[in-house]
Amino acid sequence: MKFDTPAGTNPIDRMKVVGKPIDRIDGPLKTSGTAPYAYEHHREAPDAAYGYVVGATIAKGRVRSIDLDAARQSPGVIAIVTAAEAGKLGQGNFNTAKLLGGPDVDHYHQALAVVVAETFEQARAAAGLVRIDYARGDGRFDLDKELKTAPLHGGNSDEGSESGPEHRTGKFEAAFDAAPVKLDATYTTPDQSHAMMEPFASIAAWKGDELQLWTSNQMIAWGHSDLAKTLNIPKDKIRFMSPYVGGGFGGKLFLRADAVLAALGAKGAGRPVKLAMQRPLIANNTTHRPATRQRIRIGCEADGTITAIAHESGSGDLPGGEPETAVNQTELLYAGANRLTAMRLAVLDLPEGNAMRAPGEAPGMMALEIAIDEMAEKLGMDPVAFRIKNDTQVDPMKPERRFSERNLIRCLEDGAKRFGWSKRNATPGQMRDGRWLVGMGVAAAFRNHLALTSGARVRLGQDGRVTVETDMTDIGTGSYTIIAQTAAEMMGVPVDRVVVKLGDSSFPRSAGSGGQFGAGSATSGVYAACVTLREAVAQKLGFNATDAVFDDGKVRAGNRSVALADAAREGELVAEDKIEWGDLGKKFQQSTFGAHFVEVGVDAFTGVTRVRRMLAVCAAGRILNPKSARSQVIGAMTMGVGGALMEELAVDKRFGLFINHDLAGYEVPVHADIPHQEVVFLDEADATVSPMKAKGIGELGLCGVGAAVANAIYNATGVRVRDYPITLEKHL
Ligand code: MOS
Repeated sequence: MKFDTPAGTNPIDRMKVVGKPIDRIDGPLKTSGTAPYAYEHHREAPDAAYGYVVGATIAKGRVRSIDLDAARQSPGVIAIVTAAEAGKLGQGNFNTAKLLGGPDVDHYHQALAVVVAETFEQARAAAGLVRIDYARGDGRFDLDKELKTAPLHGGNSDEGSESGPEHRTGKFEAAFDAAPVKLDATYTTPDQSHAMMEPFASIAAWKGDELQLWTSNQMIAWGHSDLAKTLNIPKDKIRFMSPYVGGGFGGKLFLRADAVLAALGAKGAGRPVKLAMQRPLIANNTTHRPATRQRIRIGCEADGTITAIAHESGSGDLPGGEPETAVNQTELLYAGANRLTAMRLAVLDLPEGNAMRAPGEAPGMMALEIAIDEMAEKLGMDPVAFRIKNDTQVDPMKPERRFSERNLIRCLEDGAKRFGWSKRNATPGQMRDGRWLVGMGVAAAFRNHLALTSGARVRLGQDGRVTVETDMTDIGTGSYTIIAQTAAEMMGVPVDRVVVKLGDSSFPRSAGSGGQFGAGSATSGVYAACVTLREAVAQKLGFNATDAVFDDGKVRAGNRSVALADAAREGELVAEDKIEWGDLGKKFQQSTFGAHFVEVGVDAFTGVTRVRRMLAVCAAGRILNPKSARSQVIGAMTMGVGGALMEELAVDKRFGLFINHDLAGYEVPVHADIPHQEVVFLDEADATVSPMKAKGIGELGLCGVGAAVANAIYNATGVRVRDYPITLEKHL
């Protein structure tokens, strides 16, 4: 099904099942420990040996020699595989550095060997006996130093862009010079780690030349084809499965070393191998969100009208990498006739930078939304009013393109009312609650809407049950549930008559989970398959597909009504289709919006910040399941607090590694850090995005939170910190 005209009325609009706060259908499986995660497929691979990864202990250079003798003689060792043993490996589309390094070393903790043994402990002990002699090379580890000579880079979304790496509208410099009120400030965000609960983990089992892999991955199709490329075998020789994922946050968008090493280890050992990457390896072996240096300039008229806005960001990555696209939202969020956005990319020999939840917008909004707060203060305007004044209903760089739905103003106004924003004192440091300095902050939320082709197969069984199969993943987001709701609505059955099977490369290719496109794209693919199944049912039962109503387990038209299950009496009916996207995304600017409100207390004596209240108001099209959507947003708000106050991969600029590479040193919020959180969804349906009329919310919930916290700290203390995370020594 090609989606190329705005959706009219369709069966989803009944909202009998879709739009209801149904409990996650995978919930009981997860809370009872019966949902198998990647490392837990004991039944399918009962005789699995254990793999343990040996990571490089230099950041740049060469392996001179690897001495495996002692490790090989260690108890229980079955096989050790290094690049030399593995033979020629290919390179996946989505990996910058090799997943099995050697002899060249591209970054710290790049995998150089996998040790396979009878037990985990034996594999670990033997890994400690692997002796590697290195020739250490010089690496580039200092972002600020490398950015001084770094070239402009248009980012991956800009291939073929006519405007080149700098995006300009009007005459920024002249307008900025002429503006009566100006801001020119630089903000910094650190390297961040996904720090998901479930580590990267895989079980590999070969049967002859066929490989079965259970892994933890957000994007089955990408991982599947990159594993085939890396191992130099045809895709149809690999079954790539990831039915449950214990968090990904973008770290599991791509094939990583655990999958490749489990496969190579299993080949070497001649039996299945299970491998969970040890936690201290993850920060440096896998990807991270790159640090940014962001300069923002805003020029305004005295009445608060933005006349000039520029956002320039610098970040770094391994050779061949991409910039963190932190300037994206600044092209779209506020009006202003004269604009400039640009990115610079430095080459660094730190571990590979890549997507982490809301790549681009998350760190971009951390900077932009402090800048907006600073500008409002310079103008003597309320920051809510300043944002409203500069709202735009068209793409400011292409005014002929309207936003499909843009309810930022309603989010801000509704949030301000609910949060009691009018009680805020605009002068910092004036509100006190005992020893706590109290402050309130606001930020807009913005994240673009993306959509990927997504397919599904739907079966109507003889028992009347509907089974959905798609390689879509559920990374804790609720995919199982919203897909079941979609199929239930379309086929007119209760949600408990729907079985959803996900995360398997033998199912039709879906959008996968990333970029908050998963919910909208995957359910639209299921919608398309259900339309096809409805046609098959109608034909079987002698109905005209356009007149037939599917409801209450029956199909009816006029005064004729037949049980849905009758259509499958002679055998299961199967339908498969996919949703493909026309150019509505070019005709309309499709984005999601919100407003974050935060109240903090800063201890007047110790400088400790406590978040006291949080509210998010979101406008993201139809909300498919308000319960799972709310969970997504409160999780994102929590992540935003982490970004604001705690999270930072500390770079050792001498040796080129992230030194706090475990969950003890890399701090993320715990429940005790997080107060009451409220989430409100505006009633919206965006007919231009899909037949579901729904956009994503999982990343929107993160974008802007950090700045709202920062702005609240400023309001509490009068100290403006432009360098994340806002730890207490920065404002004491
Ligand atoms: Mo998201 S960073 O695209 O999983």
